[in-house]
Amino acid sequence: MRAALVRSHRPDEPLAALDITETEEKPLPAGWARVHLKAASLNMHDVWTLRGVGQDPNGLPLILGCDGAGVTDDGREVMVLPVIADADRGGGDETLDPERALLSERHDGTFAEIVHVPERCLVDKPAHLSFAEAACVPVAWGTAYRMLRRADVGPGQTVLVQGATGGVNSAAIALANAMGARVWATSRTEAKRETARSLGASEVFESGAKLPGRVDVVVDNVGAATWRHSLRCVKPGGAVVTCGATTGGNVDAELQRVFFQQLSIIGSTGCTRAELVQTGQLMEHAGLRPLIDREITLSELPEAITDMIDGAIEGKVVITDWA
Ligand SMILES: NC(=O)c1ccc[n+]([C@@H]2O[C@H](COP(=O)([O-])OP(=O)(O)OC[C@H]3O[C@@H](n4cnc5c(N)ncnc54)[C@H](OP(=O)(O)O)[C@@H]3O)[C@@H](O)[C@H]2O)c1
Repeated sequence: MRAALVRSHRPDEPLAALDITETEEKPLPAGWARVHLKAASLNMHDVWTLRGVGQDPNGLPLILGCDGAGVTDDGREVMVLPVIADADRGGGDETLDPERALLSERHDGTFAEIVHVPERCLVDKPAHLSFAEAACVPVAWGTAYRMLRRADVGPGQTVLVQGATGGVNSAAIALANAMGARVWATSRTEAKRETARSLGASEVFESGAKLPGRVDVVVDNVGAATWRHSLRCVKPGGAVVTCGATTGGNVDAELQRVFFQQLSIIGSTGCTRAELVQTGQLMEHAGLRPLIDREITLSELPEAITDMIDGAIEGKVVITDWA
C-alpha cells in the first residue's frame, strides 16, 4: 500500500525524514480493527514527529499521521481516535494513562491506505460530515473541545482564541461559539482575521493588540509569541488553557500575576473517546464543519508540510487520494 514513512528524525530538515513509498501492511493485532482510510488530515504534530520532538527513534520507520476517517472491513464508516492508551491506567481517562501514545509515535499512523487501531478507537463518523471533514475532527476538534470543557466555557463568557485559523484554533472558535460564549480571536493577517469572523468570532484583533476588555478564558497553543499577551488579557479569576507551544514553550511564568490575579493555567492534551463522541454530536447539533484549506494527494504532502511550517494554511489540509 502507499504510505508516508518517517525514516529518521531531522530537527532542522523535517522533509528529509519523510519517505512516500509502497510498504507492506503488517499483521493485524488481535482485538484491533483495519480501517481503509478515505481521508487523513495534517496536524502540527506531524511536523514535530519529523523533527523528532519528544519522539523515540527506536521503532522507526513508522507511518506518519494521527488523524483519519474511513471504512472498516465490515463496512462501518468511522473516525479514528488517535490515542492508543488504557483508560484504567489513567483512572478512567485514557489521556491520563502515563503510557499513552498517539498514532505515529509507537504505532503506524494514518498517512496510508490502511491503518490498524484498537476497536475502542473507532467512533462513528458524524452523518453530516464528508470523510474529508471527519478526518479533521479527532485531533483538532477533539483537542479544542476538551480544552474548552476543562476551562468550563459556557454562556455569558468571553473566550479569546490566540492565532485564529490553525486546525485547533479554528475549531475552538466554532465550538466556543456553539457552547454559547462570545468569541474574540487574534490572527497575524487581515485575511485570516476575516476567516476568524466567518468561523464565529464576533471581534478580531491583530496578534498582541490591546483588547476592549478582559476575557474569562484564553485559548493559547501558540506559546512564546502570545503567552505574555494571554496573561494580560484574562480577568482576575480567569483561565488560560494551553495544548501546545508552536512558537516555543519556555515562557516567563509571571508568578506574581498568576497568584495576584488568581489565574488558572490549564494544560490539556487530546481527548477521550467519550469526548470525541460528544464533539461529533455537538458539531452535528450546531451544524459545524471543519474549515478545509485544500484536499491533496499523498504525493503533495511535502508541499503541505512546508505550508504548515510557514503558517500558509487556513484550517486543515486533507489527504483524500493515495496517489
Ligand atoms: N496537546 C495536544 O493534544 C495537541 C493537539 C493538537 C495540537 N496541539 C498543538 O497545538 C498547536 C497548534 O496545532 P495545529 O495542528 O492546530 O497547528 P496549525 O494548524 O499549524 O495552527 C497553528 C496556529 O498557530 C498560530 N501561530 C503560529 N505562529 C504564530 C505567531 N508567531 N504568532 C501568532 N500566532 C501564531 C496560527 O495562527 P494564525 O491564524 O495567525 O496563522 C495558527 O492558529 C501545535 O503546537 C500542536 O502541537 C496539541
